Amino acid sequence: MNYRHAFHAGNFADVFKHAILTGLIEALKAKQTPFHYFDTHAGAGRYDLRGAAARKTREHEAGVQRLLGTARLPAALHIYLNLVRALNTGNKASDIAIYPGSPLIASLLMRESDHATLCELQADETAQLRELFAGDARISVHQRDGYAALDALLPPPERRGLVLIDPPFEAQEGEFDAIEAALAKALARWPTGMYTIWYPIKLRQQTLPFLRSFVRRKIPKVLCAELLLHPDNSALRLNGCGMVIVNPPWKFDRQLEELLPVLREHLAQGRFGEQRVEWLTGE
Ligand SMILES: C[S@@+](CC[C@H](N)C(=O)[O-])C[C@H]1O[C@@H](n2cnc3c(N)ncnc32)[C@H](O)[C@@H]1O
Repeated sequence: MNYRHAFHAGNFADVFKHAILTGLIEALKAKQTPFHYFDTHAGAGRYDLRGAAARKTREHEAGVQRLLGTARLPAALHIYLNLVRALNTGNKASDIAIYPGSPLIASLLMRESDHATLCELQADETAQLRELFAGDARISVHQRDGYAALDALLPPPERRGLVLIDPPFEAQEGEFDAIEAALAKALARWPTGMYTIWYPIKLRQQTLPFLRSFVRRKIPKVLCAELLLHPDNSALRLNGCGMVIVNPPWKFDRQLEELLPVLREHLAQGRFGEQRVEWLTGE
């Protein structure tokens, strides 16, 4: 396994994913009853943008950095950017040093009574997660396969919550098969859970069987959002990305319809950009 998220932290795909994640967690907080957050592919939790990996690619400069100076944003984007700003007090918007991964974003949004389970396969990333959340009794960190963990740990005691599935896609299209299999088992154990899956868009035809699988498997209530910064016709580049949301919160499609044009405007900066919000099943 070669993938290291530190090379990509804060890029356009992270902004898209983490703004939507923030919206989903905020929606869970609309009810007082506690929820459980599962992160199947957690990463390190926190990234040093001045470290060697981030300095090599500088992907955050065309990602989160393009949004930090902006105002009057949709609620989820505003909350997410405030979390990033709070981790970087003392730094200029054009020179941030720390970027939060999904586990840190979730933990900062969670209340005292909410809990999280974080799974990560790589030893050094898991060690960083353990250090980051040492002493936080709400959070358990596991060095294990995130897909197998879903099968073992669902449903959570709270019976409400969110699963983020955010794999590195090193197996390319094979990853879609792994997601489909894990999701089918997870839904059988916990049909009312909310699930969100991030996926890359390179060649359009690579994503179609995955998106059609929700219809084929008759999974009800599946929403899909996509952001493209390049045409989806090259296998060699991350042209865009998408999130599928199973059992989304009420009216979340409207939130996405407000959020995505703003993301496109700031991330595409006058170049090619497209966004899409679509119900794959249900509504
Ligand atoms: C895209 S990164 C995760 C980023 C993180 N979710 C975030 O948004 O900050 C994918 C991570 O999955 C880990 N990984 C790969 N295969 C895994 C598996 N089967 N189970 C758990 N983690 C895995 C990789 O080591 C990598 O850290």
